[in-house]
Amino acid sequence: MPVSKAETIFVLNGPNLNLLGMREPEIYGADTLDDIAGQLEDRARELGLAIDLRQSNHEGHLVDWIHEAQALPAKAVILNAAAFTHTSVAILDAIKAVRTPVIEVHLSNPHAREAFRHVSRISPAVKGTISGFGALSYLLALEAAARL
Ligand code: DQA
Repeated sequence: MPVSKAETIFVLNGPNLNLLGMREPEIYGADTLDDIAGQLEDRARELGLAIDLRQSNHEGHLVDWIHEAQALPAKAVILNAAAFTHTSVAILDAIKAVRTPVIEVHLSNPHAREAFRHVSRISPAVKGTISGFGALSYLLALEAAARL
């Protein structure tokens, strides 16, 4: 049976996450974004959900996709805004502009890293944050999204 759009979870990924697997694996792990997509799709199937995973190195794409999540509508957005987490008022405003719940995820624990990563500009607008568990952060976010 086809999954309706209301049961789709957007999984949006920001800059440099296309390089997962070879990018600082001691921090971000060995899984590629395709590996993570596969894990999410397997679990989503069990939950009766569909995954729409996207990645961009461009801030505006993430803004557009957050708007699209509401327009479809998607059930929720799992968002790893990567470095834009710490800088982007545009992404903060996009999250505030939509009713779609957004779950912030990080592979690493930004609070255990450099001081500039301790501030998340987007956190005030998200439903909740999961960080520090590598690829498992995404799967835990999917469990949360399924229960929203
Ligand atoms: C990240 C943490 C950010 O500080 C960093 O800029 C990233 C990835 C994470 O998933 O751990 O690119 O969001």
